[in-house]
Amino acid sequence: MSLALQWAASRATVATDPKTTARSAAALRADVGETITEDGIGAARALELFEDVLLPATRSVEDPMNLAHIPAAPTRAAVAFDTVVSAANVFGGVWECGAGAIFAENQVLRWLADLLGWPEDAAGVFVAGGTHGNLSALATARDHALRTRGHRPEGGWALACASTAHSSIASAARLLDMDVVTVPVDDHGHLTGAALAPVLAADPRICAVVASGGTTNAGIVDEIGSVVEVAHRHGAWVHVDGAYGGAALAAPTARERFAGIEEADSFIVDPHKWLFAPYDCCALLYRDPRPAAATHSQHAAYLDSIDRGESNPTDLAAHLSRRTRGLPLWYSLATHGTAAYTAAIERCLASARTVARAIEETEHLELLLQPELSVVVFRRPGWSPAAYRRWSQRLAQEGTLLCLPTAFAGEIALRLAFVNPATSPGTVIEVLRSTTTADDGS
Ligand SMILES: Cc1ncc(COP(=O)(O)O)c(C=O)c1O
Repeated sequence: MSLALQWAASRATVATDPKTTARSAAALRADVGETITEDGIGAARALELFEDVLLPATRSVEDPMNLAHIPAAPTRAAVAFDTVVSAANVFGGVWECGAGAIFAENQVLRWLADLLGWPEDAAGVFVAGGTHGNLSALATARDHALRTRGHRPEGGWALACASTAHSSIASAARLLDMDVVTVPVDDHGHLTGAALAPVLAADPRICAVVASGGTTNAGIVDEIGSVVEVAHRHGAWVHVDGAYGGAALAAPTARERFAGIEEADSFIVDPHKWLFAPYDCCALLYRDPRPAAATHSQHAAYLDSIDRGESNPTDLAAHLSRRTRGLPLWYSLATHGTAAYTAAIERCLASARTVARAIEETEHLELLLQPELSVVVFRRPGWSPAAYRRWSQRLAQEGTLLCLPTAFAGEIALRLAFVNPATSPGTVIEVLRSTTTADDGS
């Protein structure tokens, strides 16, 4: 047992290896063999296999030069405290079991509610990830519409969003048996109230609108203020998906982009993306938590004694048992203070702006849009899709930079997501110089 704890203690301070990468199950089977045996293989062997074979077959998400997808950059305090949360093993579903831990989680949720400009009775819960948070919020929205309208509309319920909304929104809609109505974006990629108005007027099935508080592909923040205004006029719920970008609410240079979020109905942000917490962690908040409790509270003979007057996280999402997964963030925030978070997020925003400017000034590269948050999307005119892939793979294999191709406006592009304050923009710019060659440089 102490072997695992010692390993965790040393790992929390060691840099990860950017060259680690996935391997096939067949290759892993050949190296690992069968580990689930009648007598057990022993802690030393199991840990040895984990360290030597299994962990190297995973990607280093927190390397400062990993700028692919949405990487992660948990503070050492948050990582260390995640092991504490496991050791404490608190049941975080209901207040009467987890009061102390839930109290601390709620202080973090209150910090987020203040950033949103939400009232005192706003409340929330930490769930596993943005997908779970979006699903729980949209289930609340649909159920709330049924309660307030009194009947299911002919043709079933629908939600409206831009085509740039995260794939988890379409997934939630499928699970909730809702249609997705796509609203065209403006010239700069934003969902706007102006485009939403005729869509809502034409389709009374729409009971929820999803605005992105930072699209995953390009970091675009929808025009939340006008979306909220139009949606509420039509009696539709507004959910803001800030899984990636919501952290920027804490950054004065970006907060204005979220204007109007004060009146949104629900919101998520993933601390495992840009709030420096380890996996897995999504903060789901409701401006008014009562519709969520009406949707998600579970009832059974053995649950009836639960005090529903207290803050019971289980009532606010689709779950019952839960780990108090907000605590690593709580510990790190309590340790470092919110000013350090603001500074770290601003640093990522500044890195994105610096790299974007350098791309703009590089003759053979094309910046595809000014970064609204911390995602930079650009192109290398003249390269074939195969050249993009070769360049990206070569840098990944060397462990120099993880920058994967994406699509933007229907064409291949490159994308850098800055969520790690340790990333040096100068080093990234230096690596981008390897795009000068007419081919991919390999
Ligand atoms: C905007 C957005 N929403 C939702 C999600 C889904 O979050 P998760 O992967 O935590 O389920 C992501 C993931 O990248 C995202 O970027």
